[in-house]
Amino acid sequence: MKDPYERYKTEVTDVVEETSNTNTYTLRFVDKKIQRGFSFIPGQFIIISFPGIGEAMFSIASTMSDGESFQTTIRKVGRVTSKIHELKKGDNLWVSGPYGNGWPMEQLQGKDILIITGGVGLPSPRPIITQVEENRGDYGFLEILYGTKTPLESIFEREFDAWSKMPRTKLSLTVDFVPNGVKWEHSVGVVTTLLDEMVTRPRNSIGMICGPEVMMHFTVQDLLRRGFHDEQLYLSLERRMRCGIAQCGHCQLGPYFVCKDGPVFKYSDIRGLPDCGI
Ligand code: FES
Repeated sequence: MKDPYERYKTEVTDVVEETSNTNTYTLRFVDKKIQRGFSFIPGQFIIISFPGIGEAMFSIASTMSDGESFQTTIRKVGRVTSKIHELKKGDNLWVSGPYGNGWPMEQLQGKDILIITGGVGLPSPRPIITQVEENRGDYGFLEILYGTKTPLESIFEREFDAWSKMPRTKLSLTVDFVPNGVKWEHSVGVVTTLLDEMVTRPRNSIGMICGPEVMMHFTVQDLLRRGFHDEQLYLSLERRMRCGIAQCGHCQLGPYFVCKDGPVFKYSDIRGLPDCGI
């Protein structure tokens, strides 16, 4: 897509209910030429618009390996997301993008990959997992640590079994607490609880973290204590964004615009910036 302001009509081709307030939408541009020309890097995002209602940004939650569609996972929290949650298969919405830089995919080749994520932060690194799955020989060990408040907030659960069975892969799950009557066979505690059981070692590895800011802060500090360096940790800052194209200044972080220079940043590039919070 050449024009960053242009919104393109898109059709919902599938809806999967992840939790009581979060769905994954499979989308396809109505214009086949636009669909064919749409490519992106894991970690980039799109803007979804509804005339008269508003627009919001969302991570792209899939690769384009089927060549015909892509996915985004959306939690119902406001006007735009409530409108999206009314959509069914065959309905239309307007999409522009992709925006931002994405995860450092080229640098991951040959490296051990550590993904640490919480809640609805998982959609952003999910395409990395797919890419590793489809090109397993190109990457080292893959370790995924995922935490949610309770088991009921967990998304992409239907894929956990396949991820766990991938060669040279470890998936660890934790929840803050388990409500009465809910079955849970994994860890209990915040996501940093899982770091004690982590098998990834700092040597030849890259860590990618996506989740609430406070979770990223404590995770980064813990990883640094365990010998990881600033340069091998990447964070996705999906906050404070409005225009998505470095125009409104709303997402400014020191010398950077999160929408244009991020949302993925190497920790060494943002550490200590005023208002960084991590
Ligand atoms: S969201 Fe407007 S400058 Fe980044």
